[in-house]
Amino acid sequence: MESRTYWDDAARRAGPWYVSTGHRDDDEEFFAQGAREVDTYLAFCGVVAGADQVALEIGCGVGRMTRRLSQVFGRVIAVDVSEEMLRRCRENLSSFPNVECRAVAGDGSLGGIGDGEVDVVFSYLTFQHVPEAAAQLAYFDSCARVLSPGGKLAVQIRSCSRRDTLLSYLAALGHLAKGRRTLSRPWRGSRVEAPVVVERLRARGVEATVRPWPHHPRWSPEHWWVVGTKS
Ligand SMILES: C[S@@+](CC[C@H](N)C(=O)[O-])C[C@H]1O[C@@H](n2cnc3c(N)ncnc32)[C@H](O)[C@@H]1O
Repeated sequence: MESRTYWDDAARRAGPWYVSTGHRDDDEEFFAQGAREVDTYLAFCGVVAGADQVALEIGCGVGRMTRRLSQVFGRVIAVDVSEEMLRRCRENLSSFPNVECRAVAGDGSLGGIGDGEVDVVFSYLTFQHVPEAAAQLAYFDSCARVLSPGGKLAVQIRSCSRRDTLLSYLAALGHLAKGRRTLSRPWRGSRVEAPVVVERLRARGVEATVRPWPHHPRWSPEHWWVVGTKS
């Protein structure tokens, strides 16, 4: 599959950079940034973490945010399309026994995760890279399936306004000029319309809203958080 090959290669070339642009190493600051972002975004999405809860992270990469999730939740299921990212995630989190790293197909199915098995679904900087809009929507269907009653959804997607699509493309060109493979489809991804996502979730029992992240830098595309509760 195109995405798996792309992200396996990215992990081997410069995993920390492709996970969070600007980082050269998965050093302490890399994980500290992940921890700050987990705390900030869970609070923004109104998710209160608990030691009795199971969290699912979609697109865990090398575990930058997974480490913090494992400190605030009782158990974390960390999934990714890339076996190479997962191998590094397992290595980085070998002393965190409550994390299970699993490979997924990348098509939005979450095979192996049971109906109602998780209390929180979290995902950051991942849906924006999924090449097919249909796969992004299939992920939302799967999120609705795996959430327990009262379970919470906090999933970041990218704005699909024309301005933000253009800004994303310009950023990809800028990275390309520095030798990164950012014009490939698995990096540029696809965009889904917020009302379509909200309606899709509602039809599957999740009351959701889309909240723009208010502090994004002026010249970067807006991030939106899809925030929901399973009824
Ligand atoms: C930019 S990294 C972000 C990693 C992590 N969320 C973080 O912020 O540290 C994107 C991750 O999503 C994974 N990914 C890309 N497409 C995916 C898909 N269709 N399904 C699951 N994971 C995917 C990549 O392998 C990569 O690890």
